[in-house]
This record gives sequence, structure tokens and C-alpha cells, in this order.
Amino acid sequence: MNIADQKKRAGEKALDFIADGMLVGLGTGSTAEYFVHALAARVKQGLAIETTATSLRTAELARELGIVVKELDAFSRLHVTVDGADEVDPAFRLIKGGGGALLREKIVAAASDEMIVIVDEAKLVTTLGRFALPVEVVPFGLSHTLRKIEGAALAAGCTSHDARLRRLDSGQPFQTDGGHLIVDCACSAIPRPEELAQLLNAIPGVVDHGLFIGLASKVIVGRAGDADILPG
Ligand code: 5RP
Repeated sequence: MNIADQKKRAGEKALDFIADGMLVGLGTGSTAEYFVHALAARVKQGLAIETTATSLRTAELARELGIVVKELDAFSRLHVTVDGADEVDPAFRLIKGGGGALLREKIVAAASDEMIVIVDEAKLVTTLGRFALPVEVVPFGLSHTLRKIEGAALAAGCTSHDARLRRLDSGQPFQTDGGHLIVDCACSAIPRPEELAQLLNAIPGVVDHGLFIGLASKVIVGRAGDADILPG
């Protein structure tokens, strides 16, 4: 079964946890988009929910499909956020930010009673770090921030520590919805994610990073024939 089918299965399975009256956070990325499509079909059939989005891209898609999307501040709390991930370890620690939306994704997940993560099988890892860790930074003093990010990865015992500015195919720096930049730090393996998260949080030019720890409550993995819900 191909990866796209696995993502679709996972996105559709997440609908089992959405009910009338819920306030729902919509994630970003191709897997989250499958969820948004499936949700829109249910909304057309009469499902009554309210939503907010983790990116301008997702908000646009959801609106095109007929889902009403509000600002996060319209809600004091969300019932659930459904989002993808770049890596998931057995403790439900995540790497996110492949799509560059990690800051809003983390804010929305933290405002939710539950974060449901939807992934294909290839995202499951025993140790985080094969996927370069996205770190959102401010443009001012970029080279200093890059060196500090590499220092943090080294101090946290990562196997490698090579931080690079994310660029578009045009060569221009990638810009987040909040006008920040993304640095991708190749770590190879992150043996102590909590320690790395703390070290990154302490760097002045870092806005946030793609380590999501203690946020995911459920992981749905798309597989051939169905989708599995991993025991938390
Ligand atoms: C965006 C993300 C995505 O959820 C993550 O990159 C997974 O993307 P996809 O579902 O396309 O594989 O964190 O910032």
C-alpha cells in the first residue's frame, strides 16, 4: 500500500473521534489535508463543528471545502486537534515542522484537550532525529542563532549537528506564516529530546522548535486495509 493511501486512511480514521458540537484544530501537511477533506464531507452531511487552522494553507483549503474556520482566539479551549507529524517515537514524542507550520501547530495543540496525530507507517521511529529538526527563528542575528542551535544539538548528545537555513527552490529563504525563518538541524539521532528542547528554548533567536513533547495523546497509523490506533 502506498504512502498516500496510508495517509488517507489515517486522516479518515480520525473522524471517529469528532462529534457534533466539537471545537476542532486543523493541522497542516498532506496527511492533515486528507483529514480536512474527510471532515468537509461530514460537514456537508450535517456534522456541526467549529474549527481553527494551524496555517493559512489549511485555512484556505478548509474554507474552499465549505468548513467555517475561525481565529484561535475565538475559542477559550479546543476539544481536539488533528495533525500530522514527521516522526513519532514510542513515547509519542514528535518531530513536526516539515511544512514549516510548527509554531502555530504547537500553539493550537497546546490549546486543545487532545492532540490526535495521524501518520503513515514510515513516520514511526524508535529514536527521533533521522528527519532534520525544524527550528523557527527570527531573521536578526541568524548566523549566531545557527551556531547556538548546533551547540545545543551537540550538548544534547545528537549524533550530528548541522543547522541550515531552509530555502525555497528559488533560493529565497522559506518564510513562515508568522514571518519567521526555518532552520533545519540535521541531528541523525536525538538521544535526549527533552534536554534538546530545553536548550533550544533558551536560545534568544529561537521562536520555537519542532520537538512536540507531552502533547500527542493518540496516534493513528494508516496501514493496508485500515488504520491502527496506537495505545498511549
Ligand atoms: C507541518 C507538519 C506536518 O504535519 C508534517 O510535516 C507531516 O507532513 P505530511 O503529512 O505531509 O507528511 O508538521 O509543519
